[in-house]
Amino acid sequence: MNNGDVSQGRRRFLVGATAAVGGVGVVGAAVPFVASWNPSAKAEAAGAPVTVNVSKIEPGQQVTVAWRGKPVWLVRRTEEMINDIKKLNDTVKDPQSEAPQQPPYVEGILRSLKPELAVLVGICTHLGCVPTYRPEIAPADLGADWLGGFFCPCHGSRYDLAGRVYKAQPAPLNLEVPPYRYDDDAILTIGLDPEAA
Ligand code: FES
Repeated sequence: MNNGDVSQGRRRFLVGATAAVGGVGVVGAAVPFVASWNPSAKAEAAGAPVTVNVSKIEPGQQVTVAWRGKPVWLVRRTEEMINDIKKLNDTVKDPQSEAPQQPPYVEGILRSLKPELAVLVGICTHLGCVPTYRPEIAPADLGADWLGGFFCPCHGSRYDLAGRVYKAQPAPLNLEVPPYRYDDDAILTIGLDPEAA
């Protein structure tokens, strides 16, 4: 009889857990965790919004999500990274991102809804290569002034950790910021604007 009680208790727990997961699932077709970022091929082909759980992205970590066939980077920036972006205002071509490379509700030099999370389309604005995430400070190949950012291996364009392109680079524009919104602190949807922009 005792075992039966345990089973009953466990089952109730599992039913509760399933209901909770189902509730999140309503947000979108897929709520991938860090280990599995790819949305379903069907959703991607349709250009559907992609919903991602961002709570497990570690400070300094970059993850890539596919949206409309493009890589979208999510980078959890540390306080140090945010401060370093501010130091580069005179180094980058368009510090306030006046060119329309982001939705109107994404403002300021950090180019994100929340300072700690960058959301960027990972396609170089020169000829479309995929830049490399280089968060290190002053690595030998990028020089003593490098404060972390993205480096395009095709023709050498440099971007900071807000996706702002340095001056005098082949790339003409900052990296694109896709439309996105937070459904709550952990869940972000790429491809949908915030309800109240
Ligand atoms: S495609 Fe990136 S610098 Fe040319």
